[in-house]
Amino acid sequence: MNLLESARMHEPVLKNEVMDWLRPSAGQTVIDCTAGYGGHAEEILERVGSDGHLVGIDRDPDAIVASRERLKRFGPSVILVCDNYRNIAHIAARLKLERIDAILIDCGVSSPQIDRAERGFSFMADGPLDMRMDPTQGARLSDILRQSTEAELADTIFEYGQERYSRRIARAIKLAIKSGHLRGTKDLADAIRASVPPPYRRGPIHPATRTFQALRIRVNDELESLREAVKSGVRALSPGGRIAVISFHSLEDGIAKREFRAAAAEGLGVILTKKPLETSEEEADRNPRARSAKLRVFEKGAAS
Ligand SMILES: C[S@@+](CC[C@H](N)C(=O)[O-])C[C@H]1O[C@@H](n2cnc3c(N)ncnc32)[C@H](O)[C@@H]1O
Repeated sequence: MNLLESARMHEPVLKNEVMDWLRPSAGQTVIDCTAGYGGHAEEILERVGSDGHLVGIDRDPDAIVASRERLKRFGPSVILVCDNYRNIAHIAARLKLERIDAILIDCGVSSPQIDRAERGFSFMADGPLDMRMDPTQGARLSDILRQSTEAELADTIFEYGQERYSRRIARAIKLAIKSGHLRGTKDLADAIRASVPPPYRRGPIHPATRTFQALRIRVNDELESLREAVKSGVRALSPGGRIAVISFHSLEDGIAKREFRAAAAEGLGVILTKKPLETSEEEADRNPRARSAKLRVFEKGAAS
C-alpha cells in the first residue's frame, strides 16, 4: 500500500464538527496548518469551490507530496507549503493573502507517520531513533537522548508525557545507551517496559506510550510551535474569521484554551466553544485515534 492509499483509509478527526464550526463557503480562503494527508483539506476545498483557496501547510515533506496527489483535482485553488505552522504569519504575508476566513490546526502526528516504522514514531515496530516530523532538519531523537542528562530526560518524560515512572525510565534509557543496547525504537520500548513495575506493564496502555509521546513533543518542539501558531493565527484572521484547534492531550488543549482566553481578554474576538467539543461514541468506535480529540473554536471580532 502506498502513502496515499494508507492515508485515505484514515478518516479526518471530527470532520463534520470542523466543517460546522469553520463554515468554509464558496470563494473563501482557508489555511489548513496541518494538511497531513489532505483529509480535512479535501472537504474544505469541496466547500470553497473554484473561486476559493486552501493553503495547506505541513512540516513533513511526505505529507506535502501525498496532499499534492490527493488534492490535484482542485488545481490552482490549492497552495501547499512545507513549513512549520508557527510561521503562519510569514507564510500568509509571502503569499500576499488578501483575507483569511478560517484556520485549522489538527495537532500531533498522523496515522501514516506512525505506521511507517522508518520514521521512528512507533513503539510497535522497530525503526530508527528519529521522530522528526521534518526529517530534513533538527536534532534526531538519538541525539537528544545522548545529549540530555538523566535528570533532563526524566523532566521531559514527566512534563510532556505526564509519566509517573519518569525517573526510572530515564535511568533505564541512559543505562541502555551506555551499554550500547539502544539501537532503535524497539530497544527503547523494551528498556522502558523493563524499567516499570509489572502491574504497569500489564495496564490498559503500552508502558512506552507516554514516554514516546513526551519524546516526540521534545524532538519537534510541538508545544511552543502550537502556542506561537494559535497566537499568530488569531491575529492573522480577517474580521469574522474563525480558528479551530483539534488537540489530542491536555497539554495541547491547555494551550488552545489559554491562548483563546488571552485573545478574548485582549478584545480580539470571542471563544465560541465554552467547553471543548468531543468525538461521538460512534466516531471513537470507528476511529480509535479520535477518542481523545477535543475541538476549540475562536471567532475574530468584526472590529479587531
Ligand atoms: C493529525 S495530522 C493532520 C491530518 C489532516 N488533518 C488530515 O485530515 O489528513 C497532523 C499533521 O500535522 C503536521 N504537523 C505537526 N506539527 C506541525 C507544525 N508545527 N508545523 C507544520 N505541520 C505540523 C504533521 O506532520 C502531520 O502531518
